[in-house]
Amino acid sequence: MSANYPWMRPRRRGLSFFCVIGSFSCLAILAIWYGMNSDRDYIHPILTQLLPAGHCACQTSTTFQCSTCVSCSESSTLQLSASPSWKFQYPRDARNEALDQTQCQAAFQGLFEDIARGERYWRAHDGGLVTDDLDDITIQPGMVRAFISQGHLHVVTARAKGEDHRRKILGVLSSIHRALAADRDRASRRDIEFVFSVEDKVEDVTNAHHPAWVFARTPTEEGVWLMPDFSFWAWDNPQNYIGPFDQVVDRIKRVDLPWDEKTPQLVWRGKPSFAPKLRRALIEAARDKPWGDVKQIDWDTGSNVLRMEDHCRYMFIAHVEGRSYSASLKYRQACKSVIVAHKLQYIQHHHYLLVASGPNQNYVEVERDFSNLAEKIEPLVADTDLAHRIATNSVKTFRERYLTAAAEACYWRALFDGYGSVWNSSVNPWSDRTGKERGLRYESFILLESPKMFEFTADTAMSGYA
Ligand SMILES: *[C@@H]1O[C@H](CO)[C@@H](O)[C@H](O)[C@H]1NC(C)=O
Repeated sequence: MSANYPWMRPRRRGLSFFCVIGSFSCLAILAIWYGMNSDRDYIHPILTQLLPAGHCACQTSTTFQCSTCVSCSESSTLQLSASPSWKFQYPRDARNEALDQTQCQAAFQGLFEDIARGERYWRAHDGGLVTDDLDDITIQPGMVRAFISQGHLHVVTARAKGEDHRRKILGVLSSIHRALAADRDRASRRDIEFVFSVEDKVEDVTNAHHPAWVFARTPTEEGVWLMPDFSFWAWDNPQNYIGPFDQVVDRIKRVDLPWDEKTPQLVWRGKPSFAPKLRRALIEAARDKPWGDVKQIDWDTGSNVLRMEDHCRYMFIAHVEGRSYSASLKYRQACKSVIVAHKLQYIQHHHYLLVASGPNQNYVEVERDFSNLAEKIEPLVADTDLAHRIATNSVKTFRERYLTAAAEACYWRALFDGYGSVWNSSVNPWSDRTGKERGLRYESFILLESPKMFEFTADTAMSGYA
């Protein structure tokens, strides 16, 4: 055969073949790198196709067997004992962090699905959940080991890589403390010990079969327990004051327009490079559409930046996951608008309440590649009464019920109880080895200077005490 190609000896031919493949790979890698990191408005569709799905656009998405959790429950027996005369009333009860257990169950049916799931998982686990299961978890930056003893919160170990971690950790500890402080049965609570992570993803810090408390999980991450995220307590960026979630809701309610005055368009602002495949798909699907107002933010120039409350001026608000769950969903749900989300891959504690169809529909679900976005939006733009109903359901379900401070506190205590029901070890607040307390009380932990919170272990931190 080489005789037919006298200009190319076999060895050389092999070499040039390698070169061609090599250059192609280099070009492809460069193109993909560009596609994933560019924030330019337009990149060629072939390039968007090429982008690897990576961590943010897998085929799987959260699908709940019980798709209408607003109208069904985790079959709790407590349901039956709830006083029939008491009903949750938004204006009266939303800020009440001290609802009792039967009131919580009556008010927030369907909110405790993931806790019930965690209980089933750990009940089936040999011996239940024990101290050894916690000892197996390496405490990475962004993680805390803590315990509740006689209704008080104690911090054993805390690690933070920076301010972001430290502030999220304080948010979680404070939320736990608030839920405990509002509990009239606080002193008789079952003692539990646990580990939580404030990282975006389970796989960033731990293994999905460990019993860590996390903000979000994928459907296959079954050992972990979901907790409400840090921003219910408060979240602020250096250039951007946000505040406690219920305060954001107040601010939004003050400026939320009457439905008829809202713009009948779909709004989205963000940085495509956070989740290029998903976000570019949205940008493409809405490009040049009369109902589309989808733009990318340039934080350097400040162009296209839209304040949170200004999103409420639109009838439709798109929601896209980032590198993991996006804590912004609940801010969008604070507007009386229609949330349009792709099939979600990460579950947060309140996602079980999302209903995509039927009379209780409270958001619009589209495919992960946004291929049916136009098909779903256009009938709603044409018939805004239907859209109004979905927006009303969203407000009733989320802003005025499952995202209230009352619901958040109920969820925390249900988590303590659910986790406590499978926790099969004792919690010793005293270390016999060191002859000191094993944990630092929350009240003292928040008084530490910031640098001392970054690599905190109660053992060494408390060695100064007599
Ligand atoms: C709790 O642990 C003990 C062993 O320490 C075991 O015998 C028992 O079955 C466990 N309980 C549950 C509910 O798994």
